[in-house]
Amino acid sequence: MNNTYIIREAVPDDAEKMISYLNQVGGESDNLLHGENEFTVPIEGVKRKLAMSKDSENSIVLIALDNEQIIARAELEGYYPARIRHRAKFSISVRKDYWNQGIGSEMIKRVFEQAEKMKLRIIELEVISDNVRAINLYHKMGFADIGIYKDYFYVNAMFKDAIVMQKIL
Ligand SMILES: CC(C)(COP(=O)(O)OP(=O)(O)OC[C@H]1O[C@@H](n2cnc3c(N)ncnc32)[C@H](O)[C@@H]1OP(=O)(O)O)[C@@H](O)C(=O)NCCC(=O)NCCS
Repeated sequence: MNNTYIIREAVPDDAEKMISYLNQVGGESDNLLHGENEFTVPIEGVKRKLAMSKDSENSIVLIALDNEQIIARAELEGYYPARIRHRAKFSISVRKDYWNQGIGSEMIKRVFEQAEKMKLRIIELEVISDNVRAINLYHKMGFADIGIYKDYFYVNAMFKDAIVMQKIL
């Protein structure tokens, strides 16, 4: 267990570090939305997005930092329409050299705390059906499977299904 990292909400000034982080972790797993150095959103766009999350009532981006470098990121992205505003989409990644130290679990605990503060009722996610590590982690944290999303993902010239999960708070 690594005890030296801190977890806090990301702010617009974290944009540059966030871009480097996303470009690195993209190359460490086939389970994220982009591969190595494929995160091409310009810095101004990332700043705007972080500012919007910060101001939103049902979204948040949390980061874990070790030696001022981002080592993990978790996001709740809430929906805007009033009838589904009680729901938010969840995503997470941890830098590979920090896997298996409980950081993913800790980030999810913090996400649940924030979700309760924001009065969210449902956290939802999709996970590629062969991503055993993430699936085990989500089950451990109380997410339940609610369905299969056929051909959800296209990576390395293959379609992959996703498991859709939800956690009711
Ligand atoms: C999935 C991920 C976030 C887990 O982060 P982590 O910090 O390693 O997670 P933790 O150390 O808190 O928990 C590890 C849990 O994963 C599971 N796990 C770990 N190693 C595993 C393995 N070899 N096989 C199966 N499950 C495993 C266990 O449930 C474990 O919990 P436990 O140690 O209490 O039994 C991280 O591996 C990651 O960023 N992967 C790439 C990106 C990704 O897949 N994101 C999710 C997209 S939906």
